[in-house]
Amino acid sequence: MFEVVKRDGLARIGKFQTNSGVLETPALLPVVNPKICTVSPKELYEEFGFGAIITNSYIIKNNPELKGKAQEIGLHKMLDFPGVIMTDSGTFQSHMYGEVEVTNEEMVEFQKSIGTDIGTVLDIFTEPFWSKEKTTESIAVTLERTKKACEIKGGMMINGVGQGSIYPDLREDCARKMASMDIDVHPIGGVVPLMEQYRYVDLVDVVISSKKGLNPNRPVHLFGAGHPMVLALATLMGCDLFDSASYAKFARDDRMMFIDGTFRLQDMQSLDCNCPACRNQTLESLRKMDRKTREKTIARHNLYQITEELALVKRYIREGRLWELTEIRCRAHPAMLDALRRLAEHQMFLERFDPISRDGALFYTGAETRARPAFARYINRLFSRYVPATKNAALFYDEGSKPYSKARPSDFDKARRAGYTPVVVSPFGPVPAELDEVYPIAQSVFPKIMDSDTMRDSEAFTVRFLQIMFDEVVNGEEVSDEGTEEYDPDLIRAKAVSRYQFGKDATEALFRGKIELIISKNTGKIRNVISDGEHVLSMRAGDGLYTLRKEGADRIASAVPAPFMRVKVMDDAVPFVSEGRNVFCQFVTECDDELRPMEEVIVTDQKDKVIATGRVLLVAEEIRSFKKGVAVKVRSGSGDEA
Ligand code: GUN
Ligand code: ZN
Repeated sequence: MFEVVKRDGLARIGKFQTNSGVLETPALLPVVNPKICTVSPKELYEEFGFGAIITNSYIIKNNPELKGKAQEIGLHKMLDFPGVIMTDSGTFQSHMYGEVEVTNEEMVEFQKSIGTDIGTVLDIFTEPFWSKEKTTESIAVTLERTKKACEIKGGMMINGVGQGSIYPDLREDCARKMASMDIDVHPIGGVVPLMEQYRYVDLVDVVISSKKGLNPNRPVHLFGAGHPMVLALATLMGCDLFDSASYAKFARDDRMMFIDGTFRLQDMQSLDCNCPACRNQTLESLRKMDRKTREKTIARHNLYQITEELALVKRYIREGRLWELTEIRCRAHPAMLDALRRLAEHQMFLERFDPISRDGALFYTGAETRARPAFARYINRLFSRYVPATKNAALFYDEGSKPYSKARPSDFDKARRAGYTPVVVSPFGPVPAELDEVYPIAQSVFPKIMDSDTMRDSEAFTVRFLQIMFDEVVNGEEVSDEGTEEYDPDLIRAKAVSRYQFGKDATEALFRGKIELIISKNTGKIRNVISDGEHVLSMRAGDGLYTLRKEGADRIASAVPAPFMRVKVMDDAVPFVSEGRNVFCQFVTECDDELRPMEEVIVTDQKDKVIATGRVLLVAEEIRSFKKGVAVKVRSGSGDEA
């Protein structure tokens, strides 16, 4: 059983329940070679805190002594490891050395017989240079073997490895078929050569296309990924599990892993590492060590690099800032930068999982920041949902101070009085004055000196926007100050934010009749929207977006048919949710596919009667597949929240 406890886009912190306890993800499983054990499993558990390891059942099976012992006392006792043990099946050996002389059934039965927590199907490793035909045929065999493994797995969990070489359509199709089977973990296989050859662009395509088909209710294991450099990126793309043999393999060749690469001890100019393995060492002392001691010291160093980065990745997920860490990491190597740039191609897919707002500001640290889903969402909603209050626009430029209308109140007032809508050319693209407080427009920090790529894109969006939305455009500096038009900036804003957040139809319903706006005396910002005497919306100061009140939800529910903004719950859950309890995934019968994490939702009973409002934490496909966890954080009491 897998439960997501915190998410940041596709990245997630989860709890994975196994026969040997609960594993918190993202997790990295060090590879233990039962014949070598550079660092003992017990040390991995106690000193480094690894809750899970992976070892190779094929190696054990082929060694009579290990085989006998494993079958007699079990894998956990043999390795002296109390945590979760995953075993691989011999597929990687066939990738390295050619055909293996075992069958899938034999390997699954063997893994069961030694007490593995998570065994692996004997999948076929699809090499990056394979033809599409060969890849397709081998996937069919892997799927057949996976089906068989599910039939005989018994109490053991099983890895159903997704394959597909570098063909995105085959990856997605294979993933979808794996998702429909009774497997427990979704490893993405066949990617080791991509990482060895620094083909991170292909890696991005492979992972994203796989993610499109996989069941969100299962952890995703990126097979063979263990370098600290890739952990942030891989986690950002929705991988939960990793494994590393490199920590030990590299140590054997005197190679030290660092966050920005792997370096040979003989080439290094200094040892500026403060990990417990290096703390009292110098380059000289390391070089002078005897081979065995040095190998172990470097292996321990490599493991500390991994644990440190993994802890950091988790912190950034908790803070909702994993994009920012990933950008930093990807700028450490040109091939990683390519990966980040490739991610921009998948922006629309990523957007579906990106929260509607975050607590902190969005930091712009270079043109690649524009790959962030928040940029695509803003432009999409602006073009599809915005309705200008006037047919003329006055153009201004972002001068750094935000929100824009607070930075230049008299310029904007002059433009409005002359009948123009102030539009600011920002790094996000065009921003009409009335949208300048919504996330992430006001909640973002840009450098003062903009790069030309971003300027060019912003100008292109602006030209298109102005063409579509307005009849006449003037430079904001040139508006005459003789205008006498009357306007209500708060009402224009109140409606514009509603359209941006809920769309045009819902806004019609919310703003029907006589509108009264309650404005904060302290901040001058809109607090509440009262429509025909009903308090329908409250605006949050933090992200400039609305909280939907019960009265507002009733309006939308009667004007816009389900499933729009709805999460429908079973009869059994209705009394609890009506009292303000959260909605759990297992009680949801239907929900809107268009909902994004942290969006306002309307919780209804089976007859579409509104029973609560709240914020949805997951996307529809996650709600449908998760057996556990909160789907909607229901609002209780007044409905006002910070
Ligand atoms: N280890 C690294 N890559 C793979 C893979 O594709 N399949 C299996 N079973 N193990 C692996
Ligand atoms: Zn170190």
